[in-house]
Amino acid sequence: MIGIMGGSGLYEFIADITGKKTDMMHTPHGVIDYTTGSWMGQEIVFVPRHGPSHDFPPHRVKFKANIWALRELGVKRLVGTCAVGTLNPKIPPGRITVPDQLLDLTKETRSFYNGRREGVKHVDMTEPFCPAMRQIVREVARETGMAVQAGGTYACFSGPTFETAAEIRMVKVLGGDLVGMTLAPEAKLCREAGICYLPVCMPVNWAAGLTKELLTHRQTLEQVGLMKNDLINLIRWSMGKFPADRDCPCSKEY
Ligand code: HPA
Repeated sequence: MIGIMGGSGLYEFIADITGKKTDMMHTPHGVIDYTTGSWMGQEIVFVPRHGPSHDFPPHRVKFKANIWALRELGVKRLVGTCAVGTLNPKIPPGRITVPDQLLDLTKETRSFYNGRREGVKHVDMTEPFCPAMRQIVREVARETGMAVQAGGTYACFSGPTFETAAEIRMVKVLGGDLVGMTLAPEAKLCREAGICYLPVCMPVNWAAGLTKELLTHRQTLEQVGLMKNDLINLIRWSMGKFPADRDCPCSKEY
């Protein structure tokens, strides 16, 4: 079973799913709405990251419940879509990007291992995202001629405000290419849950302070609207090629 975590403005996957069944799961970390069905001949589960009516802003997303539910449903591979700002001149807005590194600048810690009954565990995050899934996307992009940037460092802030100009200057010094508000908790919880995680990002704006423009959520949704068909196609073509067996850092027992 492959999971798809739909970010802002990306609920179209649902339209295409056959044998669609929408359900709810009560997890120890909250209730989750999800849709299962078949897409491109694969069993998938779709979870809207921000809730079915986009009720949860980034700092209130039920990250633990989302990942818990996906694990319970037997998901071993998760594709997470997200909108991001970009600060790398080589990654202009509009260029789909699958990052390979992560800077976690969020303020909260979300873990399934908080001591006591949950135990203590330290998982390896050297490679934060699944390298095998990224390689498939890279090959599909090459075969189809789709302009996709493979690699790049995603810096994660808690949000829900966009960043300050000084924060973006800091990210530049730290080697970041993209900024967003959701991937760090998702990637870490996936690793703890033994789920391979592939983020597919849509750069929708130059990051704060790089242009004179003010940043708005409306602009994010408009740009996502322009990019989503390409993004869905990239995932569609890649999905059938994800290997059944896993031999990546994500699948190891820690
Ligand atoms: N910063 C953080 N998150 C974002 C941005 C940004 O500039 N654009 C879209 N999501």
